[in-house]
Amino acid sequence: MSNYHIKNLEEYFQVYRRSVRNPENFWEEIAEEHFLWRKRWNKVLNWDFTKPEVKWFEGAELNITENCIDRHLVTRGNKTAILFEPNNPDEEAQHITYKELYDRVNKFANVLKAKGIKKGDRVCIYLPMIPELAISLLACARIGAIHSVVFAGFSSNALATRINDSECKMVITSDGSYRGNKTIDLKGIVDEALEDCTTIESVLVVKRIDSEITMKNGRDEWIQPLLDKAPDHCEAEIMKAEDPLFILYTSGSTGKPKGMLHTTAGYMVYTAYTFKNVFQYRENDVYWCTADIGWITGHSYIVYGPLANGATTVMFEGVPSYPDYGRFWEIVEKHKVNQFYTAPTAIRALAKEGLGHVESHDLSSLKILGTVGEPINEEAWHWYDDNIGKRQSPIVDTWWQTETGGIMITPIPFSTPTKPTYATLPFPGIQPALMDAEGNEIKGNQVEGRLCIKFPWPSMARTIWGNHQRYKETYFSTFENKYFTGDGALRDEVGYYRITGRVDDVIIVSGHNLGTAPIEDAINEHPAVAESAIVGFPHDIKGNALYGYVILKDTGESRRHENVRKEINQIITEQVGPIAKLDKIQFTKGLPKTRSGKIMRRILRKIASNDLSNLGDTSTLLNPEVVQGIIDEAL
Ligand code: WT7
Repeated sequence: MSNYHIKNLEEYFQVYRRSVRNPENFWEEIAEEHFLWRKRWNKVLNWDFTKPEVKWFEGAELNITENCIDRHLVTRGNKTAILFEPNNPDEEAQHITYKELYDRVNKFANVLKAKGIKKGDRVCIYLPMIPELAISLLACARIGAIHSVVFAGFSSNALATRINDSECKMVITSDGSYRGNKTIDLKGIVDEALEDCTTIESVLVVKRIDSEITMKNGRDEWIQPLLDKAPDHCEAEIMKAEDPLFILYTSGSTGKPKGMLHTTAGYMVYTAYTFKNVFQYRENDVYWCTADIGWITGHSYIVYGPLANGATTVMFEGVPSYPDYGRFWEIVEKHKVNQFYTAPTAIRALAKEGLGHVESHDLSSLKILGTVGEPINEEAWHWYDDNIGKRQSPIVDTWWQTETGGIMITPIPFSTPTKPTYATLPFPGIQPALMDAEGNEIKGNQVEGRLCIKFPWPSMARTIWGNHQRYKETYFSTFENKYFTGDGALRDEVGYYRITGRVDDVIIVSGHNLGTAPIEDAINEHPAVAESAIVGFPHDIKGNALYGYVILKDTGESRRHENVRKEINQIITEQVGPIAKLDKIQFTKGLPKTRSGKIMRRILRKIASNDLSNLGDTSTLLNPEVVQGIIDEAL
């Protein structure tokens, strides 16, 4: 796939201007040149942000797996598509070629079909980072089933909520997973979740850790025997451009998680094109994104984007700290990784371990470094630049979201001069705007506001599964005729963007989006808890950690606070997952509320970060007197 050969900043601006002046021509050219279509589109773009409705490449027909696999067979059949690096460094890495990927996806797709999965059915995938995870996504896409991947670190409760919301018919899981020196009983978690689910007809189980599990008769089956007898070829289902490809859940500031729905053609075109340009992928490069496929980063930039480019994409099963903190660098050296894409939280954790683990490895293969998931602080940026890239590899700080499907604001390596903590400039086709509190666009440079996008791009989510009204309210109602990201940003004197963080009640902990509502709901289930509120506070490694304010019921019994703390975190682990555990819990007598009864988290955030200099106006509170009490308790 060629690109626009953006070689310097001036050329970037030329391409960018074209993409904005005539977006339809711009995207049409890319779609025409780089993909395999079964039928051409009639219209490039139809859109109306007031409904909101967005359609790209209407009338076109295609199958994304023919683009990600079949079309590479002639020229790249023996090239490694997926390079699997297991959790245990002594277990051999697997080089899965495009030919082998084709065979495995086709057989897997035939198994799904044999189990009654049809176009449009939802299939929940709850798997660790093993090749079957990528293969099951592609197998769903092959037959037009909608995959809904749930990150295998989520609890049974969180899994059940997601299965029920999209009424999945099948779960694909494994007996268990390896994570560092631990094993996790994934099948047990699925069994527990399914006690609360009625739509699941079958469960397919991949054998990974060879543990004893129970199989429910008539529902559960090992997948390998089914694969062994499945036919070799599965005709790709011809999909319409706007047919759903997948659902992926993301936290909202309130309510249950939102099932973001992504569709086929636009998602393919955008993720493939951004992958090629942002990572400057060249044939024979080895590309590694350390994210889990359970998140959008893995969907777009481990699976679909790289494979659509015929790339070699590394899938790593383990964690950065096992067997020691040199693991990432050992893998870079071993597989001669050229592009390395990770999260600020990982960079900070590794930086803390010192340079011993870095210096003992040859990192000279690296050409481009990437970061994503949360704002990267200046110290981490420099550590990454100095010690990993040796100031030779540009850092692409890529800002985007589950909802955007692909990278939105990013440097183009070797063209856009980087600047620490800045995601820099919009990718071609992306039209950002900063908005003030009155809903006006703030023009000019050296300004700060709420980040919106003014014009559709091909990979934007089309709706929230089953709740278009919520989609409209969440993203298209805060600012008229614009997509609102939920982030704040500033634009510097040359027009570079720096994302300053969420302006809603979503908290990003170690790069994971956490909504306050489900965590507070979990806390409130503790019998001793009357009410609670959580906020984020700065944390050296996680970026943010969670701080809970908890009001205990006045039951007269004097429960030990330490026990309640432990029990609260236990409930959170069960209800949401271990990533949502609270670092600090403060028992308090009251929470500051507005007259309409909303908790004023702004004040709680300041107290949690020990920043009492300017608490702002508290006079509008219903109960201003509680604030001093909370401060005194916190000291
Ligand atoms: C939120 C989206 C997109 C893949 C992973 C996260 C934050 C993401 C950056 C960045 C500053 C960033 C934003 C965004 N975020 N990338 N480079 N700099 N903030 O996807 O879980 O949907 O989270 O992550 O706050 O809104 P997600």
